[in-house]
Amino acid sequence: MTPVELIHHCSQALTQAGVAYGQGTLNAEDEAAWLVLWALKLPLDTDTSTLNSPVSEAEYETVLALLRKRTDTRQPLAYLTGEAWLQGVSFHVDERCLIPRSLIAEVIAHGSIDPWLHPDSQRALDMCTGGGSLAVLVALAYPTLHVDALDISADALAVADINIERHGLQDRITACLSDGLMQAKGVYDLIVCNPPYVNAQSMSDLPNEFLHEPALALAGGNDGMAFIQGLLKAAPQYMTNDGVLVLEIGHEIDHFHTAFPSLDVTYLSTSAGDEQVLLITKQALLS
Ligand SMILES: C[S@@+](CC[C@H](N)C(=O)[O-])C[C@H]1O[C@@H](n2cnc3c(N)ncnc32)[C@H](O)[C@@H]1O
Repeated sequence: MTPVELIHHCSQALTQAGVAYGQGTLNAEDEAAWLVLWALKLPLDTDTSTLNSPVSEAEYETVLALLRKRTDTRQPLAYLTGEAWLQGVSFHVDERCLIPRSLIAEVIAHGSIDPWLHPDSQRALDMCTGGGSLAVLVALAYPTLHVDALDISADALAVADINIERHGLQDRITACLSDGLMQAKGVYDLIVCNPPYVNAQSMSDLPNEFLHEPALALAGGNDGMAFIQGLLKAAPQYMTNDGVLVLEIGHEIDHFHTAFPSLDVTYLSTSAGDEQVLLITKQALLS
């Protein structure tokens, strides 16, 4: 079989097995291409249509073994490969943290936050940093900012440390154990936060793959707003006067409106929709 044929075969097998996507890829074809390229030690940006030479017997077995592991255990592929990519940047990942996929990565890459930053902006905070992906992307996008990265999970922070070192950002990112903003220090020009926001009903409907991720990283209470309530209350004292909070809420816009009916927010458009990432100014939070 050639890699192209293997990808086709894996795509069909993944579909037949009914695996869930959304933790790095969104469909069977992309998941199959990732699986085959990784198993064959080929770069993930390889043009798969050019892969038409037959693989060896050993390579074939390696691909099938990974495919079986994926379909039999329902572990997300990122946990099986130990790597995830976000906006072209590679991150170490394991079961101690959420698999990086935040839509905030997109708004950083598109420069959507830039109009709210100043040349003299100095400090950013990645609240709920998990494996540190957003802290790393903020540090890479804004070379003048120092980034604090907070999370309540020591396990997740151990992964963040690996990723901070992987990108040589030890001097630019400070990771710290913190329940909410309790260990935040001083004021920030920019706070990004992809919090646990999955509501209780959605939590009980989660596909098997998502149960491999730490529940602490997903569960946001009955209406998904449990963590966000405390965050929005406490955030202003940690923001500069022109500071902004960029918050991911996924599909929870209705619950958000119910919880904060008169809050003035700016929607930052993403490939997943226009109401999943919000920008909130300090002034809006105070009024
Ligand atoms: C949705 S994950 C986001 C991880 C990472 N920022 C990303 O986008 O991949 C939410 C994170 O919030 C952390 N968390 C949950 N409750 C927290 C709390 N009270 N204080 C600080 N972090 C918390 C979890 O440990 C988890 O790492």
